[in-house]
Amino acid sequence: MQSFPDLRLRRLREQPSVRTLTRETRLSASQFIYPMFVTHGSGLREPIEPMPGCYHFSLDRLTEEVGEAYELGIPGVLLFGLPAEKDPFGLEGYDPEGIIQEAVRTIKREVPGMMVICDVCMCEYTDHGHCGVIENGRNGPIIDNDATLELLARTAVTQAQAGADMVAPSAMMDGQVRAIREALNEEGYDDLPIMGYAAKYASAFYGPFRVAADSTPQFGDRRSYQMDPANARMAMREIESDIAEGADIVMVKPALAYLDVIRRASERFDHPLAAYNVSGEYSMVKAAGGHGWLDEKMVTMELLTAISRAGADIILSYHAKEVAQWLRNSG
Ligand code: PBG
Repeated sequence: MQSFPDLRLRRLREQPSVRTLTRETRLSASQFIYPMFVTHGSGLREPIEPMPGCYHFSLDRLTEEVGEAYELGIPGVLLFGLPAEKDPFGLEGYDPEGIIQEAVRTIKREVPGMMVICDVCMCEYTDHGHCGVIENGRNGPIIDNDATLELLARTAVTQAQAGADMVAPSAMMDGQVRAIREALNEEGYDDLPIMGYAAKYASAFYGPFRVAADSTPQFGDRRSYQMDPANARMAMREIESDIAEGADIVMVKPALAYLDVIRRASERFDHPLAAYNVSGEYSMVKAAGGHGWLDEKMVTMELLTAISRAGADIILSYHAKEVAQWLRNSG
């Protein structure tokens, strides 16, 4: 007896070829950005303990890794720098000869096709570990929004001068995209895109990154500038304001605990949407995979597919290179 409507949904799942044909979300190396850590010194490719598979690279070892990523079809890297010295004003962040500026020059010389994106923030460079300049407020130290804007703008300009293809402000200061846009335009870089870390939450998932970047705040936390994880509507306001200030690409960060925010943003805005699959999300998978508690590859692909399915056009992930390898081997 045939009943109608005919609900044989499994027809589309029987054959691998039909499953592939009807797949709604596909991952490709071309949608990934690979975050990397650059350090002073030479001959260095030092493992970052809480992020197995990630390294601190000195400039002379950077090219081989960037070259491999490029060969695998990854279009861009996002650079983070470890300065020689930290100080209250994060001087090396906007030094034209700073570690990041040198890294940009190195990559653009050796792997010119690779898009180089620079994170614009102060926390890797300040001795107090905060993302901006400290001032004395009524109730103790505060992060001075407008004093920080000036330094972020200066940072972005030196990165552009070094040859960066894009800048990505992540300090969560109000008005940072506008300040950077204006400074870039004044210096003649009106063609340089800005990827705004628009909805960046105050997340414990950044823990491993702070070990990697040695950027743990020395007092307090980042909750006076990064967003409350409980807020989704506020994320829409943050994205709206980044767009109004001139962001070309907007981002939600972290990704996995915020898939609802990615979904909302992708439905609401027509700007390209990036999602940052952050260090702690990576570490969890690596830790469980390393113990044999999960199938690491299957879980990684499932999670990254979820980020894409939620609506992210671009995925920043420490998994980028291994995923590109897996995709190449399976394709
Ligand atoms: C800088 C910055 C951070 C991350 C990216 N840019 C750290 C932070 O806000 O504490 C985190 C990235 C990650 O966890 O992978 N502000």
